[in-house]
Amino acid sequence: MNLDTLFEASAAACKQAVDGITIRRPDDWHVHLRDGAMLRAVLPFTAGQFARGIIMPNLVPPVTTVAAAAAYRDRILAARPAGSDFEPLMTCYLTDTTSPDEIEKGYSERVWVAAKLYPAGVTTNAHHGVTDIKGLRPVFERMERIGMPVLIHGEATDPAVDVFDREAVFMEQSLLPLLRDHLGLKVVIEHVTTRETLEIVRAHAPRVAGTVTPHHLVINRTSIFQGGLRPHLYCLPVAKREHHRLALREAVTSGDGCFFIGTDTAPHLASAKEAACGCAGVFVGATALQTYVQVFDEEGALDRLEAFASLNGANFYGLPVNNGTIELKRHAASMPSAVSVDDGEIVIFRGGEAIPWSVGEVRR
Ligand code: DOR
Ligand code: ZN
Repeated sequence: MNLDTLFEASAAACKQAVDGITIRRPDDWHVHLRDGAMLRAVLPFTAGQFARGIIMPNLVPPVTTVAAAAAYRDRILAARPAGSDFEPLMTCYLTDTTSPDEIEKGYSERVWVAAKLYPAGVTTNAHHGVTDIKGLRPVFERMERIGMPVLIHGEATDPAVDVFDREAVFMEQSLLPLLRDHLGLKVVIEHVTTRETLEIVRAHAPRVAGTVTPHHLVINRTSIFQGGLRPHLYCLPVAKREHHRLALREAVTSGDGCFFIGTDTAPHLASAKEAACGCAGVFVGATALQTYVQVFDEEGALDRLEAFASLNGANFYGLPVNNGTIELKRHAASMPSAVSVDDGEIVIFRGGEAIPWSVGEVRR
């Protein structure tokens, strides 16, 4: 079946939805799984919802070599729950000293599918990131030649820039010049949070795409301060004003092929978030699909969920779509409020809340 036929068949099937919908198995194109006990605690949630995941490389130390990525992939495969077929798709963490040859080696050996660009210091474990994007010209030229995408955390790092403007400033100062300098480079702008960034994605599609998280579709910046400081809603990029949230909802449900799932599920121990200097990241892996499907339902766009969840990302990466299906039921259910790890816990986004949609049967 070609892609056009797939999209049409998908829309037709979903129009009949009453009690729920069944879609082709989706992928999560932006996941933090961490390592060790944390990996074992969070992986079952992502593997229960998604067939594949693009694994972020911001471990300590970061995943910068082919050998480190292959070893990390093995640890993820070993941590999968019994019977899981979840496929981790690895990424390389770019630094000022990344070599084009190492990049190409990992790509041609199919160890990694993309490279991640963190401007130095922009977020959790990003201090080994890139200080001068122009200095990576040989790396980007090589990636352009071999068709390997770069996944960008698009925020300015200058502490003088207002935290709510960091995405906009990065796009103007760094992203647009990068796109002009490398006309063939495939780029994913990760976790888009503003109306203006959505327009940049659309204007440069199809070689540029954007991921949108579940949480940025349901919270705005005021949510973080609702009735007091809510550290579990703090992530980077930080949620923006309401009109941006509405634009994100419009974009993901528009049917545009340049937008797809990237949950940015980012677990941290509660003790690290409920702190004088709490770290950024929302653990949304356990309630991601429930939240996306609720948003598509509220927007009257259930027939477009499958494209966003299961087709557009694979199309961008040039990978086959998944076989099998997942059932999403219009049936209220709640997830636990937290998951235990070692002697701590990770708070689940919307944990304990009755969410009107739940995940049903997965068919392979
Ligand atoms: O909020 C975030 N948490 N944003 C990121 O970019 C990184 C992530 C993490 O690794 O915790
Ligand atoms: Zn992330």
